[in-house]
Amino acid sequence: MATSEKSRGNWNSKLGFILAAAGSAVGLGNIWGFPSQVADNGGAAFIVIYLLCCLIIGLPVMIAELAVGRYSKKNPVGAFRSVSSSWFAPLIGFWGVICGVMILSFYLVVAGWTAGYVFEEIFFFMGYPELASWFGQLDNGLKNAIFSVLFMLATIAIITGGVSNGIEKATKLLMPLLIFILGMMILYVLTLEGSAEGVRVYLRPDFSSINTDLVFSAMGQAFFSLSLGMGALITYGSYLSKKQNLVESATYVTLADVGIAFMAGFLIIPAMYVAQSSGVQIFDADGNLFASTTLVFNVLPEMFHNMGGIGLIAGVMFFVLLGMAALTSTISLLEVPVAYMIDEHNVSRKQAAWSIGGLIMFFAVIVSFYIGLIDLLVVIFNNIGLPLGGLMICVVVGYLWKTESALKEISHGFENVENTWFAPLWSFFIKVICPLVIGLVFISTIYNIFN
Ligand code: TRP
Repeated sequence: MATSEKSRGNWNSKLGFILAAAGSAVGLGNIWGFPSQVADNGGAAFIVIYLLCCLIIGLPVMIAELAVGRYSKKNPVGAFRSVSSSWFAPLIGFWGVICGVMILSFYLVVAGWTAGYVFEEIFFFMGYPELASWFGQLDNGLKNAIFSVLFMLATIAIITGGVSNGIEKATKLLMPLLIFILGMMILYVLTLEGSAEGVRVYLRPDFSSINTDLVFSAMGQAFFSLSLGMGALITYGSYLSKKQNLVESATYVTLADVGIAFMAGFLIIPAMYVAQSSGVQIFDADGNLFASTTLVFNVLPEMFHNMGGIGLIAGVMFFVLLGMAALTSTISLLEVPVAYMIDEHNVSRKQAAWSIGGLIMFFAVIVSFYIGLIDLLVVIFNNIGLPLGGLMICVVVGYLWKTESALKEISHGFENVENTWFAPLWSFFIKVICPLVIGLVFISTIYNIFN
């Protein structure tokens, strides 16, 4: 026990954990996923539903995941086993491990696109348009495979460094840089012609577009963006000290994630309209936006190309930014199966990272050649898998472990939490509101598919 506890590692500081968890949350989901979904789903109406999902479902589930993690000091499988003796509890953890592996398999390919575009921008501005367009090909299997493997190697390198020396150090450096670059780019894009129309579209709600599909997408997006539903925060929580206030930390992480997604919207959507006003096509013949999966990668580079010299700096900065955001997220996705291997199969961190990492690399190479798989994987493991995992976490914490035990864990770092208004409110959300809302959204979506 003592040795395994030592090798599990710990966060060095309160801020270190918050940055690592925020780094896990802030990723392609915020800068690529969120703006594309807003554009696809009626502008600000989607934002409103998304915010509600984050606050009503995301935040309570995040607190539950952290409590389970810190209490058990285990990976999701071991964690569920230690809070419930039911046979199916560890299976929920295992489902989380599988979701992590599968999400990372496509996430790496998208992350690889961002890395490829750094070179695309550089070669374009150096006057090698053919070379540039090779690096920009989204459906070039070989190129995708090379970049996703490189991305995975970087992730493995950080993970083998361990919790405080690897993950915490990397995110402490990357996160402030990311916010700085994002801020600079927004200020710049808002000065360009056409951006005002984008801001208007972004903030104009089209409430008639709210339907069950939109709510389903918003919920999936909230889980994905907050890194919930597969035990990433159980795992990160397992490295937390008893001094940390879980409620406060979860609130910071949620606010940082929502805030950065909202900021990214001010960059991407105006940028799409800037691109349009410089002659780039962003709508298809039917007036729909181009497929959201590739939109950011098709439109933005063209905008940078049309900006002249400054486009080089802006383009490189943007894709470096996106790559950094992706890296702090791939770390958390890999950490879940790695922690599982270390705890449950008694292997070293290095062995775990290379074996699981190698397997995921293999999957990513397959996705690299068949990028159509991305949309399918998103539906199964992100839109369905994560909320389903979240639902199960609520059931286990609410009814098997019981919210009273969870609150006892939360009281470390938040003294007397049992006597605050937070305690009954959170319990009610975990036991009733969250499972009910997730369940209803599921049922109505399935009902719609068959009607
Ligand atoms: N939240 C990340 C993003 O927005 C993706 C991510 C990282 C994730 N770790 C996760 C999603 C764990 C679900 C579960 O890009």
